[in-house]
Amino acid sequence: MMVLDLIRALAEDASIGVVVTDMAIDSPGPIILYANPAFGRLVGRDLDRIVGQSPRFMQGKETRRETLDAFHRALAAGERFHGYLTNYRGDGIKYRAEIDCRPLRNVRGELDGFVAFEREVVRRLGRPAGGSGGRYEASPISNDPLGNGLRSLSVFDVEN
Ligand SMILES: Cc1cc2nc3c(=O)[nH]c(=O)nc-3n(C[C@H](O)[C@H](O)[C@H](O)COP(=O)(O)O)c2cc1C
Repeated sequence: MMVLDLIRALAEDASIGVVVTDMAIDSPGPIILYANPAFGRLVGRDLDRIVGQSPRFMQGKETRRETLDAFHRALAAGERFHGYLTNYRGDGIKYRAEIDCRPLRNVRGELDGFVAFEREVVRRLGRPAGGSGGRYEASPISNDPLGNGLRSLSVFDVEN
């Protein structure tokens, strides 16, 4: 998959988690084909234990089924999913992930797989701000060369 090589080249040194799966949405799919080092750090697992798995391995007791159903529906429709999920690291510690998942299409426009950009967010205390971010804010991450590219793709933007 040429797109996979392109994503790998762009994402390898990024500070945001990037994960690519095949297009099989029903269990045991989707199968992870590529995850960048930042994704390994986010989910607290070695990359060689991530590739070949389904992203479901991060789910646990407090992962909301309703959100997963919405995720599943978006994947089945070949649409973007942007949302927040409680996931668990390798050591069992839970974290809140913001996930922006998009379909990958081949030159004929056929669905070929999915790419997701993922980062940890923290819940704001008190009343959610009306403006940027609302209820969640990104936990601090450094900027890197991929940052501007992601902005032009509107990754993590609400209106898209
Ligand atoms: C590219 C991609 C990344 C995903 N990342 C996560 C993730 O970080 N955490 C998670 O709980 N589910 C993630 N999922 C969603 C699950 O793989 C699965 O689609 C979800 O549980 C809904 O399907 P189900 O109803 O069959 O479980 C991801 C899916 C894709 C395609």
